[in-house]
Amino acid sequence: MDKSFFIETYGCQMNVSDSELISGLLSTDGYRETKDINNAGIILVNTCAIREHAEDKVNSRLGFYKQIKEKNPTTIIGVLGCMAQNLKENILESKPYVDIVLGPDSYRNLLDMIKARNNKASQIIDTNLSRYEVYENISPVRDGGVNAWISIMRGCDKFCTFCVVPFTRGRERSRSIESIVEEAEKAVKDGFSEITLLGQNVNSYNHDQRRFVELLAEVAQIPYLKRIRYTSPHPQDMTQEVLDVMLKYDNICNYIHLPLQAGNNNVLNRMNRTYKKEDFLTLVGQIRRTLPNVGLSTDIIVGFPGENEKEFQETLDVMELVKFDSAYTFKYSARPGTKASEFDDHVKEDEKQSRLERVIATQRKHTMFHNKNYVGKIEMVLVEKESKRSTQEWAGRTDSNKWVIFDKSNVNIGDIIPVRIDEIKGITLHGEIINIQEMEAA
Ligand code: 5AD
Ligand code: SF4
Repeated sequence: MDKSFFIETYGCQMNVSDSELISGLLSTDGYRETKDINNAGIILVNTCAIREHAEDKVNSRLGFYKQIKEKNPTTIIGVLGCMAQNLKENILESKPYVDIVLGPDSYRNLLDMIKARNNKASQIIDTNLSRYEVYENISPVRDGGVNAWISIMRGCDKFCTFCVVPFTRGRERSRSIESIVEEAEKAVKDGFSEITLLGQNVNSYNHDQRRFVELLAEVAQIPYLKRIRYTSPHPQDMTQEVLDVMLKYDNICNYIHLPLQAGNNNVLNRMNRTYKKEDFLTLVGQIRRTLPNVGLSTDIIVGFPGENEKEFQETLDVMELVKFDSAYTFKYSARPGTKASEFDDHVKEDEKQSRLERVIATQRKHTMFHNKNYVGKIEMVLVEKESKRSTQEWAGRTDSNKWVIFDKSNVNIGDIIPVRIDEIKGITLHGEIINIQEMEAA
């Protein structure tokens, strides 16, 4: 039996982290990862269902896997993650070449299922969701780089009306602080400079009544851990205590991703976002008072069912007031099974497109506004990778999460070094590494 596997990942960072867990699980039984999809014994795809576009991409990949299987009929094809739930009937009926379908809480069964399928069992499907599974005691096989993703909680109980996650990933549950700290310590020993704590609702973390703030403070005290990030928090669960801990520990990055979604209270209410625009603005004020120069990013959805032009304008108004550093912007996409998909008055595609373009233009203006303030400043940058443009340049991030490009010199990936920001090209900062004396003189 061919024990090589190829795995590809679509969607969010949680999926990246899950794929690392799956690689960890497979490696315990002698399987080895290959980057050569055409000759892999097993092809796995970790899927995303958050928007229709994400599903379309996976569906077209499945067509490609089918062709591979026609050439190598013993190849096992596994569809994992959030699309498993929605795909299961469809797969049984129309995708006989798919061998295994596993939802996000069933990865532990993968080894047994591969064996069963090799023994000619019929198509295998397990999309049961668990109240408890947090994949403790599995060592992920990480893909290198400077950052280690550590998932600290799974699932979501917020039930925003547009979102499929509570259905695909099930109820909220958290890992113990001890197991998270242990995993973070191991990542530091393995050479990772940065860890990112992950959860669908990272700040509603709750294990035996121990909350996110406690976890964050414990992780911050891990020796030699240079940087800590976390994503994504929900505005409702953001507390002053969390901000205070961020201020107290230098290694917690001065950056928060705070999803707004929309700026009008009727829309927020129909989205079941549990805060009003005024609450969001108050929270941003509180964050900026506690954490000067904090980097703030957001998620925005345009064209939610029933959103009229006036309501949409309020999203632009809130953007003007907050001036986020960056934003992930989406056209609303109806997801089967969610409440909003049954709402009347869906916004037309061309209107969604026009709103999206206006949001993107507004954001670009604000990104430039913030970036200009960086020119001339010295920033501590974590050297992360070679720049896409040139093998002579590094790319790294400031602790406020801005990418900076600079000429390579005598520094290594994983170092944190002072860089003087000299100019902006497009929306990216460019700078030059400076030495410590120059930094002190400045
Ligand atoms: N349509 C468009 N965007 C969505 N998101 C979640 N569900 C949908 C949907 N149905 C966006 C939200 C969320 C981000 C991860 O994806 O902005 O914060
Ligand atoms: Fe989806 Fe809302 Fe939960 Fe985020 S908080 S995963 S948008 S339901």
